[in-house]
Amino acid sequence: MKTEITGRERGWLERAKEYILSGEVVAFHTETVYGLGANALSDEAVQKIFALKGRPADNPLIAHVHQDFDISTLVDEVPPYAEKLREAFLPGPLTMVFPSKGKVSRFVSCGLDTLAIRVPSSPTAQAFLKEVNLPIAAPSANRSKHVSPVTARHVYEEFAGDIPLIIDGGACSGGIESTVLDCTGEMPLILRAGLVTQEMIAKVVGACGIYERKEGEKPKSPGMAYKHYAPVCKTAYFKVGELEQAKALYIQEESAGGTAYFLAESNVVKLLADYKTLDLGGTGEQMAQRLYAQLRKGEKLATLLIGIEPTAQGGVMDGVLNRMTRAFGRNTNET
Ligand code: TXA
Ligand code: MG
Repeated sequence: MKTEITGRERGWLERAKEYILSGEVVAFHTETVYGLGANALSDEAVQKIFALKGRPADNPLIAHVHQDFDISTLVDEVPPYAEKLREAFLPGPLTMVFPSKGKVSRFVSCGLDTLAIRVPSSPTAQAFLKEVNLPIAAPSANRSKHVSPVTARHVYEEFAGDIPLIIDGGACSGGIESTVLDCTGEMPLILRAGLVTQEMIAKVVGACGIYERKEGEKPKSPGMAYKHYAPVCKTAYFKVGELEQAKALYIQEESAGGTAYFLAESNVVKLLADYKTLDLGGTGEQMAQRLYAQLRKGEKLATLLIGIEPTAQGGVMDGVLNRMTRAFGRNTNET
């Protein structure tokens, strides 16, 4: 299959719609990361996504809809706080989980009785979703466990020949995946940290919890149980206080004929003038935006990529630190 990258040429919207209606999988730009979309109403189309990604069958997908889509056709019991959050943050990088009406393919929610809904703000995504006027099930457009894609080129590198179309909307401005928020309880609960932060949500509705999985409990958001976002090269992860150890590992890799790179925030990169580095930037927003692109660059350049944990915390950093921990594999006993 030939894979076309489009988004500006005449007729791309019609072609995207034709592919979706014929059950194909189409990649598309969003403001967070690129998605791998298929008609959420079709069992076969949704199953194709799982096959393409090599995604575990118990990890549910998000249904993406345009901003005028009536979500009450898909979910019920939207609590008053969720209405407020919709008004404040949608369209945007916030995914909300509600009790499902069971209208989409059962493969979308993988047996859960809830459905995750997302209204992306990317104009390219909105144009595509409006054209099809269907809920589009879409995970990030990467092979399962690998780094999420933030350019059309990243998607092409992984899925060329496997999907007919990549809808190019440029580089993703957000850079990490949406915040996933459980809206089935009395208070919203963050299942996955992202660009819409706990502080931002609490400011609008008064309170917002963060879901923590208890020992032995089945996770509320199954995706969080997997090692994820990982580059294909060897990795190591250190705190700034462990920089000497990290340098020793770097030198060991280089002496053995390998290529080592550091991935760190700007202030730390300044301390590593004699080493090869990839700069994450200084602010939380910059680090979110650059993280996946730098991880993908790093895995191409390096045999060993050494991450240095950023020191800033809270806000967007909750999401950035979560992705880094999981990409570099420390503190995770997940498979
Ligand atoms: O920004 C994003 O959210 C991107 C773009 C493409 O929209 N999508 C994305 O999808 O990150 P994915 O499949 O890579 O991650 C979806 C996350 C997973 O952690 C999954 O377990 C969780 O959302 N999820 C989906 N449906 C759920 C549900 N009904 N209940 C709880 N968690 C759910
Ligand atoms: Mg993903």
